[in-house]
Amino acid sequence: MISTLLEGQFQQAPRDRLAADPVLIVHGGAWAIPDDLVDAHLHGIRNAMCAGWGVLSSGGSALDAVEEAVVIMEDDEAFDAGRGSFLNREGKVQLDALIMDGGTLRAGGVGCVERIANPVRAARKILSESPHIYFVAEGAERFAAEHGIPLCKNEDLVIPREVERLRRFQAQSAEMSEVFAPEISHDTVGAVALDAEGNIAAATSTGGTLNKAPGRLGDSSLIGCGCYADNGSAAASTTGWGEPIMKLVLAKWAADRVASGNLPQWVADEAMNYLQSRVNGHGGIILLDARGRFGMAHNTPRMAWGLKSAAQETSGITRNR
Ligand code: GLY
Repeated sequence: MISTLLEGQFQQAPRDRLAADPVLIVHGGAWAIPDDLVDAHLHGIRNAMCAGWGVLSSGGSALDAVEEAVVIMEDDEAFDAGRGSFLNREGKVQLDALIMDGGTLRAGGVGCVERIANPVRAARKILSESPHIYFVAEGAERFAAEHGIPLCKNEDLVIPREVERLRRFQAQSAEMSEVFAPEISHDTVGAVALDAEGNIAAATSTGGTLNKAPGRLGDSSLIGCGCYADNGSAAASTTGWGEPIMKLVLAKWAADRVASGNLPQWVADEAMNYLQSRVNGHGGIILLDARGRFGMAHNTPRMAWGLKSAAQETSGITRNR
């Protein structure tokens, strides 16, 4: 059931590598990605890696790299982030995002924003320019506007594909519409990076779950649930059904196990085992430590991901065994 992505696919970064060889990992969601969306996901993942790697390869920070990678996926309608996100039960896009710097533990998050096309940009402004960590709804939009981020109309973020998806979903029985199904969810995007200074960072952005109640917040923008970064442990971004992930504070759970000396790939697999066995959750995780060691796993039918370092570049849509 649990997918171990790395075996036989690409090499782990050497254990004794100095933390000065940049690494970037991105994901475009763990769910039952339909066959006809596979190419669009791969294309989006590769564009995101290109943007993030452009930052890292020119000496930029891990924080800038994860922001730029996530912006690309927010702008790409293939993903459940930014324009093209799943709609809530009132037919609106409501977005959540978090970004975190592993060197300083500074973080910025936004929740339930309806008029920001790139919530990770607003999250970054909060990290950099606010004494606070988290803004929601109108307050987040006001903060963003006051800090130079343009506001849009909610309708600008809604696309016909998602209007039709919501219509079909709501036509099912009320009982069914309360049940999580990996076929229709979940496509959150995220990135983790290690820069030449040896700092790690993480960012996660989402439109949340299909048909969610207005005001519902998922795991993605909550520190330690959908995103976490600490140079002393690991950078993590999760994707999947938010409520179970929140119950386990899964990103921090995983980072703590890396800090205890476990290899990130082992921890990623264990995180999925724990998610499934403890709360019957579904999702995926990417994990990277400040030595460049990484792990990825998911227990959904598919997960879109990409990895880049000086030595290798790999991307794919992994199927569960
Ligand atoms: N993992 C995203 C959400 O549940 O909102």
